[in-house]
Amino acid sequence: MSAQAGRSLDAQLAEELDVLSSQQLRRTLQPVAPIGKHIEIDGRRLLNLASNDYLGLAQHPAMIAAATGAAERYGVGAGASRLVTGTLALHAEVEQRFAAFKHAEAALLLPTGYTANLAVLSALARPGDLVCQDKLNHASLIDAARATGAGTRTYPHNETPKLERLLAAHAEGSPEGRRFIVTDSVFSMDGDCADLPALCAVADRYDAVLIVDEAHGTGVLGATGAGLAEYQGVAERVYRSGAGGVVVSTASKALGGLGGVVTGSRAVIETLINRARPLIYTTAVPPMQAAVIGQALTVLRDEPERRERLSALCHTARERLVSAGWPMPATQPPTPILPLVVGTAARALGLAEHLRSQGVLGVAIRPPTVAPGTARVRLTLRADLDDRELDAVVQAVGQPM
Ligand SMILES: Cc1ncc(COP(=O)(O)O)c(C=O)c1O
Repeated sequence: MSAQAGRSLDAQLAEELDVLSSQQLRRTLQPVAPIGKHIEIDGRRLLNLASNDYLGLAQHPAMIAAATGAAERYGVGAGASRLVTGTLALHAEVEQRFAAFKHAEAALLLPTGYTANLAVLSALARPGDLVCQDKLNHASLIDAARATGAGTRTYPHNETPKLERLLAAHAEGSPEGRRFIVTDSVFSMDGDCADLPALCAVADRYDAVLIVDEAHGTGVLGATGAGLAEYQGVAERVYRSGAGGVVVSTASKALGGLGGVVTGSRAVIETLINRARPLIYTTAVPPMQAAVIGQALTVLRDEPERRERLSALCHTARERLVSAGWPMPATQPPTPILPLVVGTAARALGLAEHLRSQGVLGVAIRPPTVAPGTARVRLTLRADLDDRELDAVVQAVGQPM
């Protein structure tokens, strides 16, 4: 009989949770109250450098008005799956606008970025295909590939020669199979970028489909905020319909709301509508959420100064932290994600606590979210940070120990 026999599930779980506590890896939910760029926790007001609301849109008056307007007009829920009666004219309109924003033929809204990634891979990849993922891809992409039945391989972070070897072997062994290259555009825990032109070239060489998760690029990078592909000059190749690119964006970061959006060719989107279980078997995005996404596109177009300010902050903050001795991944362009890597979970918690004592909220990121030995405090910049506040943040962070 196993050691677990006769013990209740609760007793077993309590023991497992105790192990996590002893390793300083236990997570808890902390209620907070956001107030603009600040956040109140346990009655203390802190500068919020722990959210992905890079442009400050979550509390933008026009965004709030869009949400309340949609609720008044359509109610608070869509009431059914997209394939039943859940598709409103509002969904179709926002999808059309998003497709235009991403230079794509068509777009599809899903409840979150996580489910959008599940939808794409589960609808497009089949047994016999090969899905190649950057090792540092977001968990949603890793989980999504596992669910497909396709062969899944990871390549070391941003190492295209290793990726090429995987693709070459598959092209030789299974010439009929589909090959997918899947990458984050901006890596969520390190803030560095993929080399999309290089990945496009590899995709062309091996007849592979490039799937790019622009969760942290959308709204932030590129002349219009379309993302990293726009910044790196490959928007046509990555976003354009028919060129083999599929892009996933999320409204939960720079766009200030919630909702995943897949853009690509009409054939890709039609296939998702027919095959993607995370779309078919779930209720449609609520009208408020769709309206907020549409409004975010308007704000991106009309208030480019938010993106410009954020970009200036990304340059300055990174330079100042590097001069203070913090190793930052070399990346072009600099992004709002600043990883302060300190090693152990205990040190990451200690640094986060120190920052809190200085009035700054940055969250400790520990394994398994990041590799053991690379625990960190992840700071994220926001466009509404002023120079004095940036000085205070740099001062509070100090130098690595
Ligand atoms: C790269 C990346 N992809 C996807 C997601 C999931 O997005 P969402 O929060 O909209 O589910 C996230 C955010 O957590 C992310 O960082």
